[in-house]
Amino acid sequence: MPEPENPSTPPRVLSGMRPTGKLHLGNYMGALANWVKLQDQYECYFFIADLHALTTDYADTTGIAPNTLEVARDFLGAGLDPQRCTIFVQSRVPQHYELPLLLGMITPLGWLERVPSYKEMQENLTNKDLTTYGFLGYPVLMASDILLYQPQFVPVGQDQQAHVELTREIARRFNQFYPLRGREVLPEPKVLLTPSPKLPGTDGRKMSKSYGNTIQMTDPEPVVRQKLKTMVTDPARIRRKDPGDPDKCPVGDLHKVFSTPETLAKVYDGCRSAGIGCIECKSWAADALVQVLNPIQERRASYPETRVEEILEEGSRRARARAGQTMAEVRAAMQLSADGVRG
Ligand code: TRP
Ligand code: SF4
Repeated sequence: MPEPENPSTPPRVLSGMRPTGKLHLGNYMGALANWVKLQDQYECYFFIADLHALTTDYADTTGIAPNTLEVARDFLGAGLDPQRCTIFVQSRVPQHYELPLLLGMITPLGWLERVPSYKEMQENLTNKDLTTYGFLGYPVLMASDILLYQPQFVPVGQDQQAHVELTREIARRFNQFYPLRGREVLPEPKVLLTPSPKLPGTDGRKMSKSYGNTIQMTDPEPVVRQKLKTMVTDPARIRRKDPGDPDKCPVGDLHKVFSTPETLAKVYDGCRSAGIGCIECKSWAADALVQVLNPIQERRASYPETRVEEILEEGSRRARARAGQTMAEVRAAMQLSADGVRG
């Protein structure tokens, strides 16, 4: 992790997540757990990208607001602390509607058509008409989300890396066209690649909401145990007396992420010698998951609904103030309306 350049002003970090509904362990290990660590080293802005949900779910928006609230709760449960970071909702910060228009003016179509996820998602989500201006412009929205906070770092997984690269190109183009008193208004942010362990779902494929194979951050202990019981194992281990290999088993992968070295050693020995059965092995994995999930669920429950709402309002207010500063510089650089005309 890069060291802050000047300890008195920690570098800024921004990241966001779509409101997909209750989050799962993959979201936790692949993003949130890392964000929680960043809070102490950086000035952090974390937001729920509800406007991004519109790029694919514009025809039915009923899920977006409730999902936003669930994601906010999961943020808090994971340990994002509103005293140490700013948590906000994208749609409550009008600058997220404002900057995309301006950046859209300078973004060549070819750059957008070339983004790998563009064609991919159009091909995969065949039940939705994604031949819209908004869907093509998604990376401009994301670039705006980032650049509004003038952050040095954007912690994302590999799947989002291309979008941050494009953000850098758009910023570079903006800065070339519109220097402000010889200064760059939109510094190019760097990717802070989130280390994300391989986390299999119950069917052995990557844990993902779209596969329906997730363990939710809110799953109570009996549900976790039940899901583990039906989880797929090393296919070579058909009978109890057949030896297996934890490296070929999704349950083994869970152990590698969540279990203590002692338990992991017992899993390797017991599995390879057929000394333990899968039922026992799975119950150990469930133990480890429950230990991770318990404090998260307790923390989540400790925030009453009214408090969650307060946190989002206060965070969005802070975000508006910060994004407003950037917009003032952007307007000045582009020689749009003078400051004071718009606050
Ligand atoms: N596109 C991201 C995703 O699908 C979410 C996102 C939107 C984001 N705006 C962002 C992430 C800005 C980092 C920075 O997961
Ligand atoms: Fe997988 Fe554990 Fe069964 Fe081995 S003993 S196959 S690691 S569940």
